[in-house]
Amino acid sequence: MNINLSITKKQKLFMDATESEVLFGGAAGGGKSYGQMVDALIFALRYPGSKQLILRRTLPELDKSLVRTGLSLYPKDIYKFNSSTHTGRFKNGSTVDFGYCAAENDVYQYQSTEYDCIRFDELTHFTEAQYIYLISRVRGVNPFPKQVKSSTNPGGVGHGWVKERFVDPSPAGKAFRGENGLGRIFIPSLLSDNRFLADGDPDYKTRLLALPEKEKRALLYGDWNIFDGQYFTEFNSSLHVCTPFEIPRSWRKYRSIDYGLDRLVCLWIAISPDSRAYVYRELCESDLPIAEAARMIIDHTPLCEDIYATLAPPDLFSRAQETGKTKASIFSSQGVNFTKTSNDRETGWLAIKELLQKRQDGSALTIFNTCTELIRCLPALTRDKRRPTDCSTEPHDITHAPDALRGFAIFYARPASAEGEKKRHIWTSDMWEDYYAASENERKYLKLKYGEPY
Ligand SMILES: Nc1ncnc2c1ncn2[C@@H]1O[C@H](COP(=O)(O)OP(=O)(O)OP(=O)(O)O)[C@@H](O)[C@H]1O
Ligand SMILES: [Mg+2]
Repeated sequence: MNINLSITKKQKLFMDATESEVLFGGAAGGGKSYGQMVDALIFALRYPGSKQLILRRTLPELDKSLVRTGLSLYPKDIYKFNSSTHTGRFKNGSTVDFGYCAAENDVYQYQSTEYDCIRFDELTHFTEAQYIYLISRVRGVNPFPKQVKSSTNPGGVGHGWVKERFVDPSPAGKAFRGENGLGRIFIPSLLSDNRFLADGDPDYKTRLLALPEKEKRALLYGDWNIFDGQYFTEFNSSLHVCTPFEIPRSWRKYRSIDYGLDRLVCLWIAISPDSRAYVYRELCESDLPIAEAARMIIDHTPLCEDIYATLAPPDLFSRAQETGKTKASIFSSQGVNFTKTSNDRETGWLAIKELLQKRQDGSALTIFNTCTELIRCLPALTRDKRRPTDCSTEPHDITHAPDALRGFAIFYARPASAEGEKKRHIWTSDMWEDYYAASENERKYLKLKYGEPY
């Protein structure tokens, strides 16, 4: 049988790499995904009966990219793809499973499986916890090589851990031993490596050149240092992101909003009895007038959910010259009443940093993995060049979700710091009512929250 394929020099390096963990990472269009698929084909043919798993983070991404490439690249007389099981079978008995892990614990669908080779495409879309779990599925008693081979662009939720695992420890192209004692290598990929794309679509590079600076550095030059100057360096998705669970009714719930005509962000945050804040829902919409924004906030809040306070920044409480009305009062007339929070940016960012600190039992702030906008934007914020204690307001579109979180963090941090100074507080009758209705654990939390009463 003759298969006529050409590969680039970098794809050959990737295919020849024998380290346990290999990363092919860099510019968009460097030929990484194609390299994966050719490598998977060669592996399947060289080792009859071998098993491989190829992953993307979501099913639609998988179907649109790798599954299609497999179908067009692999000779039809030796390869059949079953679209209901997402398994590709070769005539020699080798298989390639095409999989995805959209939610954090989707990894458990691979609990009882064994693979000779697992391939992650767009590795930075995965969390470190997913990667670590899945690579434990590489095992088997056969003599075939056992490897984890990944390809990716810089950026994405996993940028930090991927860079730390593959890019930072050793110069590019130089193999090294990871902390687990196994070999790793990072093979950088550049757009100029892929002559097939340069010939077939000569304008592609021009389109990348038109991207905003950071995306351009990542996608055109494959630059891994795009997040230098990252503000929330403590953000770590394996610590700060969790799979959703049902929030008990008794937990206090807040909404925190950031509103401008260009963007509404509303975050729903619940406080557990041991004082952890969980961001459990987000709403992000563009171009909504107030009535529409209020309606959406109400629609996204189930009737049975008691919201203790809806926090909003002070600018929503300033009167418009033309109407004499505040935005807060218009929201209120639509059924959403605000509590004013502070707009002291630096104190607010510090309050978020405080919440992100690692504690013995995890972190004080956890975000449900369904809140994808907040998870995308928070680690992407960079330091302001002139005021390094503040975050940059550029790119503007990533500031809204963190701004909403900041409003909550500064509000929530206030009583706790008062408690730290051992101040005593006058409690209102509502507070006492809460206290008497609470369980022992909740009472501890309430004291933290309100401060010690007189
Ligand atoms: N060896 C090759 N032979 C023919 N075409 C190739 C080869 N390598 C890559 N290509 C083509 O070049 C284009 C870009 O390749 P590919 O999708 O693999 O890049 P990538 O690095 O995965 O890009 P992205 O970062 O956007 O995912 C595709 O159209 C692919 O089919
Ligand atoms: Mg790709």
